[in-house]
Amino acid sequence: MNTKDSNHLPLIIKKLHKSYKIDSDTVDVLEDINLTVRPGEFISIVGASGCGKSTLLRLIIGLEKNYQGQILHGDKPIKGPSSDRGMVFQQARLFPWLTVEKNIEFGIVGKLSEVEKTKIIEEHIELVGLKGFEKAYPHQLSGGMQQRVSIARALVNRPDVLLLDEPFGALDALTRINMQQEILRIWQAEKTTMILVTHDIDEAIYLGDRVLVISNRPGKIKKNIPVELSRPRERSDYDFVRIRKEIYREFFTQEEKNLEYFI
Ligand SMILES: Nc1ncnc2c1ncn2[C@@H]1O[C@H](COP(=O)(O)OP(=O)(O)OP(=O)(O)O)[C@@H](O)[C@H]1O
Ligand SMILES: [Mg+2]
Repeated sequence: MNTKDSNHLPLIIKKLHKSYKIDSDTVDVLEDINLTVRPGEFISIVGASGCGKSTLLRLIIGLEKNYQGQILHGDKPIKGPSSDRGMVFQQARLFPWLTVEKNIEFGIVGKLSEVEKTKIIEEHIELVGLKGFEKAYPHQLSGGMQQRVSIARALVNRPDVLLLDEPFGALDALTRINMQQEILRIWQAEKTTMILVTHDIDEAIYLGDRVLVISNRPGKIKKNIPVELSRPRERSDYDFVRIRKEIYREFFTQEEKNLEYFI
């Protein structure tokens, strides 16, 4: 696979503030976010609905340009979308009229010969385990398979950073666990920096080198919880359960903490 000079660069966020204007009101969405993501690190982000998680990913990918503070990829400020950063959304967002291979081809940025294109598409179909489905249309695939196509499309330019915004939210529990394995396999093979937003706390712990808990609006990094567990991880391990409790505690108010018994 082709590698890029920009591979293995840290992502640095300094004093990031983001607000939106709705009518004449200013809504502060993110406040004083400071974060350094090591090259190849896997970060999970959790937080209540509306706390600014998707906004943070959109800022990192370069879709939102109006903000205060700094977002650097290596030493370069992020000024817009780039093939160095890929994004996977909750819904696969495939073109229904294009086959698997054409959907993946659509993600390729830059001029490549037909031979190079074919090779890259083949490699990515293999990477996400969809060999044999090259000519299938999205409606002929399961939800999990469609999501694999969108992961392949996001990886096709060998991005340095892959942003995942609740990518498995629409999948059933078993497919979800399979996809988590798949993402880990890709991460270990490609050494891509991963930033995953999820509502599933077990998923956050299972995958992440650390879990960031974002507070309610305005979103701030409330807690940075390292997950120092070797892989493959076991969801019923004592330390896994301990971290799960630690994260749940961040979500609960004092009264709700009495619910701890149920976790
Ligand atoms: N384009 C926009 N214009 C105005 N406000 C916006 C815009 N996009 C997001 N917001 C506001 O920013 C806040 C954070 O939204 P965001 O989508 O980042 O939340 P989230 O943490 O991803 O939530 P969820 O878990 O439900 O996906 C919300 O209050 C939302 O109304
Ligand atoms: Mg969101």
